[in-house]
Amino acid sequence: MRRPTGDRLAGRVALITGGASGLGEATVRRFHAEGCWVMIADIDTRRGAALARELGDGAAFVACDHTDRAQDEAAVAATEAEFGGLDILHANAGGPFAGPFESADDATLDRVIAVNLVGAMKMVQAALPALRKAGAARPAGAAILFTASVQGISAKPNFSVYTVSKHGLVGLTRSLALELAPANIRVNAICPAVTETPMLAKFMPGFSGDMDEARVRMKATIPLGRMPEAVDTANAALFLASDEARMLTGHALPIDGGQMAG
Ligand SMILES: NC(=O)c1ccc[n+]([C@@H]2O[C@H](COP(=O)([O-])OP(=O)(O)OC[C@H]3O[C@@H](n4cnc5c(N)ncnc54)[C@H](O)[C@@H]3O)[C@@H](O)[C@H]2O)c1
Repeated sequence: MRRPTGDRLAGRVALITGGASGLGEATVRRFHAEGCWVMIADIDTRRGAALARELGDGAAFVACDHTDRAQDEAAVAATEAEFGGLDILHANAGGPFAGPFESADDATLDRVIAVNLVGAMKMVQAALPALRKAGAARPAGAAILFTASVQGISAKPNFSVYTVSKHGLVGLTRSLALELAPANIRVNAICPAVTETPMLAKFMPGFSGDMDEARVRMKATIPLGRMPEAVDTANAALFLASDEARMLTGHALPIDGGQMAG
């Protein structure tokens, strides 16, 4: 059993969707290490439960498909029951889609928008009663984070459906930042560039398995000359969720080594 050691989120409670893998997992680990009580919500029961067991005290897992409103409400209820409240919602779960726009059939359109956008909206609605209580209880308030993407603030060919879903999240970030400011709930989005996670291979169908070539090409688009790692996104999430960011709301922050600066 490993207890939280830092204090940047001491005594706060976070619910992180898609917390079993990749960027979500890195954020779970980072938040937990900074004293946060973390509920991992994911459809991947095996990985999610194993991560909660590994972290031990201060971490728990709830099986949750965030596209299902009832499961979102159950995940929030489980968080409140386990940790006594909810201060931070990180709506991070999402999935890839790459390919020509014409190749996206009805099922794909529905799935990508449901998983990447509508699921996050439903989870926010489920969490708002608890977040409103936290916003009223603490001077620095409560926080909502979305994992959008650089595709939420820019575009490139063959990512149309994914790009629509992530632009939607950035629009939601701005709208909710204004709507929820009176409730002392801050809303921000994190916009990572391509980052090495299990999702990466699913994004690269055109490279037919030559991931090394893909990595070289991606790195060449990053002014800092190195690929972002999952911990870079987790560090940004930690800052935006913490009281250090108490005056920041409505932002879409690229984690991109300067890619969006051009
Ligand atoms: N990896 C990248 O390059 C990158 C870049 C920008 C944005 N993102 C975004 O980051 C987020 C996390 O992606 P990742 O790279 O860590 O991928 P990942 O595949 O490693 O992790 C995604 C997690 O979400 C879970 N998940 C999927 N559908 C779900 C659902 N309906 N309900 C609950 N959980 C669900 C999966 O089980 C998995 O644990 C996604 O929203 C993705 O679009 C990723």
